[in-house]
Amino acid sequence: MTSSDLFPLSAEHEMIRQTARDFAQKEIAPIAAEFDESGEFPSRTVKKMGEMGFMGIEVPEEYGGAGMDTLAYVLALEEICKADAAHGTVMSVNNSLFCYGILKYGTEAHKQKYVRAIASGEEIGAYSLTEPMSGSDAGTMRSRAVRDGDSYILNGRKSWVTSAPVAKYIVLFTMTAPEKKQKGITAFIIDTDKPGFSRGKKEPKLGIRASATSEILFEDYRVPVENRLGEEGEGFKIAMGVLDAGRIGIASQALGIAEAAYEASLSYATDREAFGAKIGEFQGISFKLADMKTRIEAARLLVYNAAMAKERSKSSGERFTLEASIAKLFASETAMFVAHAAVQIHGGMGYSKELPVERYFRDAKITEIYEGTSEIQRLVIARMETGLR
Ligand code: CAA
Repeated sequence: MTSSDLFPLSAEHEMIRQTARDFAQKEIAPIAAEFDESGEFPSRTVKKMGEMGFMGIEVPEEYGGAGMDTLAYVLALEEICKADAAHGTVMSVNNSLFCYGILKYGTEAHKQKYVRAIASGEEIGAYSLTEPMSGSDAGTMRSRAVRDGDSYILNGRKSWVTSAPVAKYIVLFTMTAPEKKQKGITAFIIDTDKPGFSRGKKEPKLGIRASATSEILFEDYRVPVENRLGEEGEGFKIAMGVLDAGRIGIASQALGIAEAAYEASLSYATDREAFGAKIGEFQGISFKLADMKTRIEAARLLVYNAAMAKERSKSSGERFTLEASIAKLFASETAMFVAHAAVQIHGGMGYSKELPVERYFRDAKITEIYEGTSEIQRLVIARMETGLR
């Protein structure tokens, strides 16, 4: 049974999925292991993804995007991540954390200048919330922006910024009024070519190694008032609202990794023989496959459901926080479960760099951590259900 039997797609959605699948399998899958090994940023294929319209799938055409819906976005991202999660990380940040945030909270001038550049694939975007001493507790950042005439002067250090080493523009969150804590955070759009901006240490990562991640530093960096996203003090809510969209992207990434690990396992189990039989004939293996398949299909429904909730929010204005957190929590834990079982089914070959299974295992782990750990997703879901703090 294929996934489309469980979730019928429109002709348009089937087409975007097939286009992304063809591109990912032809252009990305063959180079994934090499770039994972070297940790080099795959500029050439990322550029091609931009040309294909994958960097701004939901962005209206007037701002340089493909003008499609959220389901189209997750279907394409799932296919890219099935070939290589690192490429998917760059795509997810550009679409969800950069373009979505500016489309939702930015001015017309912001959309024309910054969204167009990223959605069209000319430049790479990033999103910077985390600091060395502020991760899950996102409201406790130490970096500062102080108003000075028509600009703000920024100082501080941000960490774990996906795509920072290659980004032209960054949506950045920093304190303008520390005494107000979360309500003192403000969002800005940063041009990385301006003086006072520099890149710090690159993160040596377990997985998604071809995506570039580093610290960024601000030393008396001057950002014009017109680059402020929203009003002073609105930054925390903007950060959280944007992460709701980002978490659907990470859930799609997790789904793609899980599918790749499952398909490799299915093929191995129906091919490899031991004790005079295909190993898939043994219950120890076949029950693993059944659990993997079941969790993947459940994750798929949650991811597509979250995508549709986000799509509805464009006209209703309703939040889709709950759907996004549920999808991310379940899909990321599914990716880890499936990748873990995939290594086990492959035995020694699952532990070898000759097959991509060990890469799926390493890549799956990040989906339980970034854009809100599984613990944070449980906290969000529980608070929304109970109404308690
Ligand atoms: N949308 C809009 N508003 C929201 C919101 C959302 N999703 N979530 C919270 N808010 C609002 C609340 O309504 C509240 O508003 P009021 O003050 O008006 O009541 C305000 O924000 C504060 O909310 P909380 O009191 O719930 O805040 P909290 O301090 O308890 O924190 C949290 C909540 C869920 C723990 C949050 O801090 C969180 O999600 N932390 C995880 C951060 C995270 O995901 N970091 C990853 C960074 S990105 C990354 O990984 C790197 C990369 O490059 C990919």
